[in-house]
Parts: sequence; structure tokens; C-alpha cells
Amino acid sequence: MSSASPSSVGSMLSSFLGSKNTKPILERVEDDLPTKLRLKYSPYYRAVEAVQGVKIKVAGRDMLMMSSNEYLGLSQHPKVVEAAQKAASLWGASSCGSRLANGSRGYHEALEEELAAFLGKEACHVIVAGYLACQGSLATLARRGDALIVDNSIHSSLWDGAQLSKADIERFAHGDMNSLRALLATLDPKQAKLIAVDGVYSMEGHLAPMTELVELADKHDAFLLVDDAHGLGVFGNQGRGVCDHFGVTDKVDLIVGSFSKSLASTGGFMAGSRAVIEYLRSNCKQIIFSAGLTPATAEAARAALRVIQEEPERQQRVQANAAHLRSRLDALGLDYWQSPTPAIPIVIGNKEKCYFVWQSLWDQGFFTVMSIAPGVPAGKDLIRAAVSALHTPEELDRFAEALRVACKKAGVPVK
Ligand SMILES: Cc1ncc(COP(=O)(O)O)c(C=O)c1O
Repeated sequence: MSSASPSSVGSMLSSFLGSKNTKPILERVEDDLPTKLRLKYSPYYRAVEAVQGVKIKVAGRDMLMMSSNEYLGLSQHPKVVEAAQKAASLWGASSCGSRLANGSRGYHEALEEELAAFLGKEACHVIVAGYLACQGSLATLARRGDALIVDNSIHSSLWDGAQLSKADIERFAHGDMNSLRALLATLDPKQAKLIAVDGVYSMEGHLAPMTELVELADKHDAFLLVDDAHGLGVFGNQGRGVCDHFGVTDKVDLIVGSFSKSLASTGGFMAGSRAVIEYLRSNCKQIIFSAGLTPATAEAARAALRVIQEEPERQQRVQANAAHLRSRLDALGLDYWQSPTPAIPIVIGNKEKCYFVWQSLWDQGFFTVMSIAPGVPAGKDLIRAAVSALHTPEELDRFAEALRVACKKAGVPVK
């Protein structure tokens, strides 16, 4: 999740409870109040027993999934499932080690070539998690003495990478190009610079202002990195992502992202010039010291990449569904932080009320996730919903009605 500062469920719950722990580690672990509370109220890690698209079963009860980032609804697409099965039969379950040591496999290279061509980049490297793609890119490309300039709401994986890089971290206000402009003006023109942003901010649902970002990066000779985990498949021609949507792909030095959203698999990628990708292969610890993507996950992602080009109606449907839900939220007078994307936050603005709304939605059969400060800025505690191409307008209407009931119960103003 994105964060005003690096976050976790534990830190969110700590802040919820106002708890501070100064005990020895084992004692701290055993006495950890956020963990005890999580296990008691259990808003996270709920076990899903069966999945059929957005229809799921939890504890024998039918529920509607409203928080998954499966934007295009491809995880059970026959071509995706078949590709994963065939890959496992042909190559086995895993290459059991780092590609540097055990060699790249045909399925790695095939995915990298297709993804690079799709994104309009020279080269690509695929890795076991989007998290590691983001963390590893920043940790490797920026170094001590550089200015690493980040939007305040970047994903936790980018924060981790920024900290590992040991560069000077400079923040600008979320999405605010005046703030970025002012910041850049204070920096030493001779200092090497890297600007890192999310294409779509996963909690806020906001789009990065890419036109201004490339202008400023160009003017200040800064390397520009975009984490497009939530833009891929959803924005741009045939889902080529946010950089394509703004027509700036060739001005962005590195696009990183995930296969766990629209591409309905797991894993991540880095796409850029051949020089940048080869540099990462030589220097990025997250690549060098970690096993390669498994055959099934790589081939599932590659099949999904083909399906999104063959079935453009999925991209249209997820956009139409997001517009439909936004219109319902407008009618209810609920704040969705002006998200123009299928990542739709319902801002409650108060931790306790947020929990009550979440619980009421759960009781009414809707699976959502809540995010509270510091996972989001103070006063922006929210229910994070995500719309899929698989939702029907009727299901979204039912969700809106459930929200109305939940907000009324929790004392959140609603029409
Ligand atoms: C913006 C963003 N970047 C990166 C990631 C990490 O992706 P993955 O799930 O592939 O590790 C996520 C996933 O939550 C994300 O939302």
C-alpha cells in the first residue's frame, strides 16, 4: 500500500492504538497489541475458501470481492490458467535459484521480450515480485550523495529502495508539481538526481501528472522512474500504462511494475534502455541474490499480456465500472479523493469510524480493506475499494447501497 511514510499493518494498528513498544524483541513479539487486536478483530488476512471471479466464499458465506487489484479479471481466464499449467508440466515448478547462477530460462526471456515490445522499451527484466522490482531499482540506481526525489505518497517498496540506496531523500507534496519545482530549485545542479513516482497511487487512486514530470526531469537532467503497478492494463493504448496514456514513454527512463494486478499472476518487471537493464542485472542485489520467476507465473503473465491485447473490451469495462461506482459515490456525497482510476478510496477520515464502516460492509457481504494513518495521511483513513472488469453495474449498485447503510450506522455523513 502507498504510504505517507513506510507502513505495515502493524504500524497502522500501532497508531490506531497509540501503542509504543520498548521491550526486548521476543517479549515485544509476544505482547504485541496490534497483533493481538488483529487476531481478535481480524480485519486482515481473512481466509477465502473459493473464488469465482469477484464472487468469493468466506466461512461458507457468499461475498463480493471489492478490494482485489485484478482489474481485468484474468486470473481464471482459460488461456492464462492453461499457460501456467503447460509451463509447470514443461519446465517444472521452479528453476530453484538465481538466474545469474542457474541461468535464465526460455520463459523468462520470452516474457521480457514481449513485455519490452508492449511497453515500447528496449529491454526488460522480470523478477519474483513487483515489490522487489521497485525496491531493487531505486536501491541500485541511486547512491550516496545523489538526490532521490520522491512524491510523498509513493508505494512502500519505493520507500524501502530509497532508504537502501543511502541517497539524500527529498520529498515533494503528493502530486504537486509546484512543490517539486520549488524543491528542484533548491538542489545543487551538479548533484545526480532521480525522481521516483507511482503512475497510479494505489491508495489515493490518483494519476501522476506525467507531462509536467517529464518536463521537470528533462530540465533538471534527472533520471525518471515510474512504478506503474496499477496503470498497466488499465491506462494507455491496449493497457500499455500511464506513460503511454500521457504519450511520454520515451521520456521515462525506467518503468517498473507488477504482474499481480492486471496481469493476474505474481512477479514484477523493470523496463528501460538496454544499458539500464544490463546495469541492473550486474548490480541489483534483488536480482542477483534471489531466485528467478517460476515457469507458471511467468507464462501466466505472458498469456495475460496477450489476452489484454486480444480482448480490449476488458479495459473498457473496468473504466466504465469505475465511472459507474464514482457516480454512485457522488450521489451519496461520499469522498473518493477525486480518484479518476479503478482504485477507489472511500475516505472516512477517522480511524474508529473507518473500522465500523469496514465491519458493516463485511457483515453485508462485501470484502474490502481499510487503510488507516500512517498507511495514509492523518485524517484520510479510508476503505480502499478496487473495481474490476468482472463487476456488474448491479453489483456496484449493491455495494453503494451497503456503503450508505454502513456510513449511516457509523455516523459518517451520507445522503
Ligand atoms: C504501487 C505498487 N507498487 C508495487 C507493488 C508491489 O507489487 P507486488 O504485489 O508484485 O509485489 C504494489 C502492490 O501492492 C503496488 O501497489
